[in-house]
Amino acid sequence: MAAPTTRLFFCLRRQERRLISWRRLWGSFRASFSSSSSSLRRELSPGGMRERAGRDPGLFWGSLAREELLWEAPHHTDCQWDFARGTARWFLGGRLNVAVNCLDRHAQHSPDRVALIWEKDEPGTEEKVTYRELLDMTCRLANTLKKNGIKKGDRVAIYMPVSPLAVAAMLACARIGVVHTVVFAGFSAESLAGRINDSECKAVITCNQGLRGGRIIELKKTVDEAVKKCPSIKRVFVAQRTTSKIHMRSHDVLLEEEMAKVSSICPPEIMDSEDMLFMLYTSGSTGKPKGIVHTQAGYLLYAAITHKHVFDLKQDDIFGCVADIGWITGHSYVVYGPLCNGCTTVLFESTPVYPDPGRYWETVERLKINQFYCAPTALRLLLKYGDEYVKKYDRSSLTILGSVGEPINHEAWQWFYDVVGDGRCTVVDTWWQTETGGICIAPRPSEKEAEIIPAIAMRPFYGINPVLMDEKGNILEGGDVSGALCIAQPWPGMARTIYGDHQRFIEAYFKTYPGYYFTGDSAYRTKEGYYQITGRMDDVLNISGHRLGTAEIEDAMDEHPAVPETAVISYPHDIKGEVAFAFIVLKEHTAHPEVVTKELREIVASKIAKYAVPDHVLVVKRLPKTRSGKIMRRLLRRIVTGGVNDMGDITTLDDPSVIAEILDAFENYKAKHPTF
Ligand code: PRX
Repeated sequence: MAAPTTRLFFCLRRQERRLISWRRLWGSFRASFSSSSSSLRRELSPGGMRERAGRDPGLFWGSLAREELLWEAPHHTDCQWDFARGTARWFLGGRLNVAVNCLDRHAQHSPDRVALIWEKDEPGTEEKVTYRELLDMTCRLANTLKKNGIKKGDRVAIYMPVSPLAVAAMLACARIGVVHTVVFAGFSAESLAGRINDSECKAVITCNQGLRGGRIIELKKTVDEAVKKCPSIKRVFVAQRTTSKIHMRSHDVLLEEEMAKVSSICPPEIMDSEDMLFMLYTSGSTGKPKGIVHTQAGYLLYAAITHKHVFDLKQDDIFGCVADIGWITGHSYVVYGPLCNGCTTVLFESTPVYPDPGRYWETVERLKINQFYCAPTALRLLLKYGDEYVKKYDRSSLTILGSVGEPINHEAWQWFYDVVGDGRCTVVDTWWQTETGGICIAPRPSEKEAEIIPAIAMRPFYGINPVLMDEKGNILEGGDVSGALCIAQPWPGMARTIYGDHQRFIEAYFKTYPGYYFTGDSAYRTKEGYYQITGRMDDVLNISGHRLGTAEIEDAMDEHPAVPETAVISYPHDIKGEVAFAFIVLKEHTAHPEVVTKELREIVASKIAKYAVPDHVLVVKRLPKTRSGKIMRRLLRRIVTGGVNDMGDITTLDDPSVIAEILDAFENYKAKHPTF
């Protein structure tokens, strides 16, 4: 037992010595910048940082990497990249461990600092976990994985609700060099199985049940169903979230029981900067969800630096991001960014309306949250309940309010600012993606702190170089222009590939505008040079901030034997932002269309997730198609959003009479659904 302890601390001491020497270097580097303290201040101000990052991004990030992270061996090359091949590699030669950066160094200096506040489903039952305790939990979990044959390079799926054990599971994987793939615990067995099979996971870590908004979620049952189709799975680790009995299968391991038996010391596996840290599946416009790959050092640094600067993090801050760990926001701003920065991060298990619509603000008061980060969809829902639910709670601890995942409308932004923030907090609309790893455009940091335009993301983060392109691929210069949003040079947090399919990575992100990373979004640049995201340019929906390809929904529905053809488009929704609108063609003589539409909804829920179920299903005789047989979804969008007088170019449409036909069906549908 003593030997690993000694080794671990020896390793830490050695790392600390290195850190100190790097600090010295950084100090002299800083000093060499300036001959006076005012120019040093300028260098370290947001303007100075932005300027330095723009001048030499490699040097900028390389210096920050040395300053902010704890290394086993420093890197020799800041960055190598070639967007034509879809490659970007950061901090080459560097060796480190992400869990050591997120835990050990804080546990050593401030063992009793609270790392996690688990805001459980029932208000007032929160649990606090210190850095020392989280390190202990992580090491035990890592040792349990190792004892069960999981080793460096293996993939493990995590299908858990937000909880300390879920965070420990992610960090345990990082500690022993295992690649985790967290699957949102609302996904169906079929979706989970698809992800497990694509990444050939060796194990799943789950809970017997989840609890959300007072309702039980049967996680273990879903896992049992999923793994029947997953030959790579050797172990299922089951944590006990509720008192319900676990029905054990031969490959099941009771997680807490096993963790109690193993050592609380686990020497970290030292990883190369560019080794895989995790993959996270996300939807694109075509095909199955893709496993977006993030690597160790670059991702960690970018999550930590954006977290610190966008949210103006101070020591002892309590950071409240209410995202689920199943999404990238949970990875970067619930787990990796906050823990790397050594602050206290809140794990929110519940919903914004449980037990009532004051839940967020009651939590803010009780936990004294300083920064609050959520999705616009929740704000749109809550503002409908009125201001009283907000005002009855003390929100004086709040300094920054963040929004993420979808465009924030003016009403929601203003309510966030005026009512939640009492007009004294900075509201940051943050734009980014699973692929970017961290925030790329946000109003902060800025020297012009006071200059914030409501409901727009505004300023590129340090080292982010956005460009707008016209339809022909020409760069649009100046202000008051709209185009496809691309990024011209790499940043450390960017995704490295799609798991097992680098060609698809190139096709999806680097082919449309050669030499540039294409985000899939369009944006408007104001005269002052600020960016406003205007929406997706591809067939990707954003339902309550959750990304979903229309093709995935179509593929699921196409499996119904009575449905030869479907087309799904986006339809605006007051609270969810967008919902899926499905057009379906039935086989001739189908007796009960209403039964089929009900079955279609069930198929989508069971093949993908409940949130993917189309809000509208309209039966039509045929779909609008080009002469070569391609479905013209653009026309369907026009029909349902009232743009029938301006259908655009329909010269390629096979039979124009289809428009009147669908319009008719749509009018009938509306008449039958008065709330439409
Ligand atoms: O369309 C953009 C939208 O969400 C997409 C990324 O989704 P995902 O990978 O699931 O990550 C969500 C959390 C980072 C983007 O391509 N999006 C994200 N943030 C914003 C946004 N659209 C407008 N404004 C935002 N602030």
